[in-house]
Amino acid sequence: MTTTETTGTAPAAQPDGTPLLHASGVIMRFGGLTAVRNVDLTVNSGEIVGLIGPNGAGKTTFFNCLTGLYVPTEGSVSYRGTVLPPKPHLVTKAGIARTFQNIRLFANMTVLENVLVGRHTRTREGLLSALIRGPRYHKAEARSRARAMELLEFTGLAGKADHLARNLPYGEQRKLEIARALASEPGLLLLDEPTAGMNPQETRATEELVFAIRDQGIAVLVIEHDMRFIFNLCDRVAVLVQGQKLIEGTSDVVQSDDRVIAAYLGEPIATTEGDAGTDAGTDGATDAETDTDPDGGSAAGEQENDR
Ligand SMILES: Nc1ncnc2c1ncn2[C@@H]1O[C@H](COP(=O)(O)OP(=O)(O)O)[C@@H](O)[C@H]1O
Ligand SMILES: [Mg+2]
Repeated sequence: MTTTETTGTAPAAQPDGTPLLHASGVIMRFGGLTAVRNVDLTVNSGEIVGLIGPNGAGKTTFFNCLTGLYVPTEGSVSYRGTVLPPKPHLVTKAGIARTFQNIRLFANMTVLENVLVGRHTRTREGLLSALIRGPRYHKAEARSRARAMELLEFTGLAGKADHLARNLPYGEQRKLEIARALASEPGLLLLDEPTAGMNPQETRATEELVFAIRDQGIAVLVIEHDMRFIFNLCDRVAVLVQGQKLIEGTSDVVQSDDRVIAAYLGEPIATTEGDAGTDAGTDGATDAETDTDPDGGSAAGEQENDR
């Protein structure tokens, strides 16, 4: 389904408008804390949709509700018109793949093996033949390896196929997570802070990669703090604040909304929670620098006390 341009620099979208993912009235409570409050979100095929918001806004929790890691307290999530069972492997099987804010790779496996693990949701039926190791198994195995290599080629990691995952630089580990997610042949890819800890060149390369993924016919829902990345890339952006959807619209509409500037761009948006400590410091600096609002800093104090 690789159509015309693969340059990927233009945010030109080719969404065909078919709803792929539809989350309706999703609420997630942890004891007394409501992390996600009645969120609706649709991703159509061909779209790149951004999900932004300050730390603690509920973005990752919402992803976890979409992917079956959490069972939402209320609400439902459907994919291609069918309600998803809240079980991660069934969600993957249905066609949704994801990466994690905190990289989750098999550190002592090779790059290629990590991608092959991602393929195994697709080749389950081969259990018996895997035990027997008959010709069908060998054929499937060869196909899997070929596809995995193709994905490594696509993500720029082919030259490192036999390196141990833990020996890859941080930016390449994030790419490997994407390659592994793609290995399940998803129709929708969810990315949770794919550029966290990356330098500007790696971030640009990731932008190109996301465009290329979209051009392969895979819709993308992406959480990111880097505003330039988000507004360049996304056909639509939804903003979560305190678990609630504040606004949703095109990049132009969202980035000029006063409430977004005050509530989000004003906040110091370093990803200090969750991620490995090494990137937290520089991350904040990069984020601040990519903000479009020059007086973002002045709103920072207000955000702290804002409900
Ligand atoms: N498993 C959990 N148990 C209790 N509270 C949680 C859990 N996961 C997330 N939270 C809380 O939910 C809120 C939203 O967190 P999160 O979704 O990680 O935000 P974001 O990804 O937008 O930074 C935070 O207050 C966080 O502490
Ligand atoms: Mg998060």
